Amino acid sequence: TSVPALVVAVDGPSGSGKSSVSRAVARRFGLRYLDTGAMYRALTWWCLDQAVDLADQGAVVRAMDAMPLVMGTDPAAPSVFVGAVDVGEPIRQTRVSERVSAVATNLDVRARMRDLQRRLIGEAEAGVVAEGRDITTVVAPDADVRVLLTATEQARLERRTRELHGHAEQDAVESTRDQVVRRDRDDSTVSQFVTAADGVHTIDSSAMGFEEVVDALSALVTRVTGRE
Ligand code: DC
Repeated sequence: TSVPALVVAVDGPSGSGKSSVSRAVARRFGLRYLDTGAMYRALTWWCLDQAVDLADQGAVVRAMDAMPLVMGTDPAAPSVFVGAVDVGEPIRQTRVSERVSAVATNLDVRARMRDLQRRLIGEAEAGVVAEGRDITTVVAPDADVRVLLTATEQARLERRTRELHGHAEQDAVESTRDQVVRRDRDDSTVSQFVTAADGVHTIDSSAMGFEEVVDALSALVTRVTGRE
């Protein structure tokens, strides 16, 4: 007999470390991994590639309907393809990061993303760790484990700066600040991810190293579901 699928929903702001932590936990429990932010990024990349005006909400919805998106959910090697194009790299570029909020605030896009993400979660036979901004609240409110990964603004800034510059000296932190604060503000217009909804566990990673956060989330999964 097979074990029922285990769904772990992880939300958090940018720089909370949720992507790398979610991947590691997925590997530990033998689950698939779904990066929903990458889906909004892929649509943004596709619209830029197809010269679709991001301010034209109907045009962006039509672009999404025509986008041949394929999400690879192996946590050891997650991938994002649009048709035959591997967009794993380009969706992380600044030109996408700066524009993705315009796509993520499009409510018709969000409704379609929600349905698509539910389908991808349902297809993961052993289960999945799905991460984003509205997974615990909108996409998978009935997930077995729901977690909000938080961190203070300073901790998130330092993490993001280290990703971008390889160090977190104050001048580099300052140059990252605007970008992170603006993204938070743009993002918060669609989803309230700063406070946890009912039944959602909070893990504050501000003072934790990567392995500690992975252990904390894994321990929570085990406590709530009995899985090892
Ligand atoms: O986590 P990220 O930086 O890759 O997210 C990219 C953008 O997509 C960001 O503006 C937040 C948005 N997003 C969202 O609105 N809902 C999700 N479930 C995931 C991401």
